[in-house]
Parts: sequence; structure tokens; C-alpha cells
Amino acid sequence: MVQAVEGAAALDAPAKAIGKWVRGAFAREPLKDALSGTWLGHAVHPVLTDVVIGTFLSSTLLDLLGGDDGERARRRLVGAGIAAAGPTVMTGANDWADAEPVDDGVRRSGLVHALSNSTALLLYAGSLGAAGRRAAALRLGGAAALLAGGYLGGHLSFAKGVGPDQTVYDPGPADWTPAAGAAELIDGRPMRVVVGDTPVLLLRDGEQLFAIHDRCSHRGCSLSDGSLEGDEIVCSCHGSRFDRRDGAVRQGPATAPQPAFEVRINDERVEIRRLAA
Ligand code: FES
Repeated sequence: MVQAVEGAAALDAPAKAIGKWVRGAFAREPLKDALSGTWLGHAVHPVLTDVVIGTFLSSTLLDLLGGDDGERARRRLVGAGIAAAGPTVMTGANDWADAEPVDDGVRRSGLVHALSNSTALLLYAGSLGAAGRRAAALRLGGAAALLAGGYLGGHLSFAKGVGPDQTVYDPGPADWTPAAGAAELIDGRPMRVVVGDTPVLLLRDGEQLFAIHDRCSHRGCSLSDGSLEGDEIVCSCHGSRFDRRDGAVRQGPATAPQPAFEVRINDERVEIRRLAA
């Protein structure tokens, strides 16, 4: 199913149009950082999905296990899930729209994930206007759609890497390692080098040298393709801003800082090593 969804090029046109609209609608700060989870240190969407999935599936479990006397509880659970759906949809749409320009599969499976979960939401909401077996059937259909959507959501996070810190498995060299010739660095101009397997952004500012991970923690774009504005490195993909000195997030949508490295000049060579934990 996932392969079929990811190979469905027909989904691109509506997905691109919706993604463009979402990026425009949620572009302003502080809304963008609030939805992205910059304030939390990781994405907000997975936290909220627990509320929606938990309440909706609990109502279906009451249908299957709770007998006839749990109707009030079922309705309250569905109501709580509907109340949590608004911010859940907004945070998920924001995260998905920021997958551009990275991956066709993410664009397509994200759209089907949203359609499945929207179907679940409509079925559960419809159950509030029904009674008895009809209501239970609507909730059961909602659960099936919710599980399909949830599966694709897990696929997006765990197989496609949407959400995790993109530097987490690449801490950089533990020991001093040559990165470039000292004469190659031009004052005020970020320079990308690869040290071992780690892409690194080097920056000279007069006598000061800085080095941070070049792969943006948000979606993996190269920070050296961005710009230097004052003390901040600005990512060209979605505008995250990182402190050039320690990689701290100054503005999202990134939620994790860039790893920063110690840097020195030794025998006319720039050398780096990762900071001691
Ligand atoms: S990849 Fe999104 S802000 Fe850098």
C-alpha cells in the first residue's frame, strides 16, 4: 500500500497546491514556531495525535467491550477527540508542507495520511448524530480509517525521517581532524567542507573561527546554501535561524540545535572536533 501511494504521481498536483497554501497560511511568526514545536524542542504533532487516536479508539473499544451502558462515555470520548483534531490537523499540515522540496514520497503519503484521518474524523463526528448500531458502525469505520492514517504517519516519521533531528546520527569527529586549509576561508563567507562523513559549515569572522553541522536539523538542507545575517546562519529551505557560535535555534521551524564544533588552526590547517558531552 505504501509503495502504491508513494508511486502515485497523480497526487502531486493537489499535494503541491495544498502544501503551498499551508506554507503561506502558517508562515507568520509566532504561529510557525508554535505549530512546528520550536518552543517544545521537538514536533508537537505526534503528541496531539495521541489524544485524537486515544480518545477515538477508546470509544470504539467501548463499543466492542463495554456493552450497552457506555453511550455517554463514548460520546464524550468522541467529543474530546474532535476538540483535539483542530490543532492536530494544523501541526501535521505544517510539518508535511515543510517536506518540500525534499521528497516526492513524503508529499504523496502525507496527503493520503491526511485524507485517511479526515475520513476518520468525519465518521466519528457523524456517529454523534446517530444511535445504536449505526453509531457503532460509524465509529468502527472511523477506527479503520484512523489505523490506516496512523500507519502512514508512522511511515512518514520512522521510514521517511520527517520530524527527527537530521544530525542525530552524525555527531562529527571526536578527535581533532583537519577540515580545510586556513587560507581557504574567506572572511564572513560560510564554507562547506566534509570531515569524515560529516558536512560542516566553517566560518571566519576576523580572528574568530566557527564550525557547526552543515546539515540543517529541520529537514536536512545544506546551511552553507543559506546566508549569514549578523550572528545567525539562515537556512535557505524554510528560514530557520541558528546561532553561528553554538548552533542554538534562534528561530524555527527547526526544533533542534545544530551541533557545534571546537575549531582551531594547527600548522596552517583548520581542525575541528566535537564538543565534549
Ligand atoms: S531544512 Fe527546513 S529550515 Fe533548514
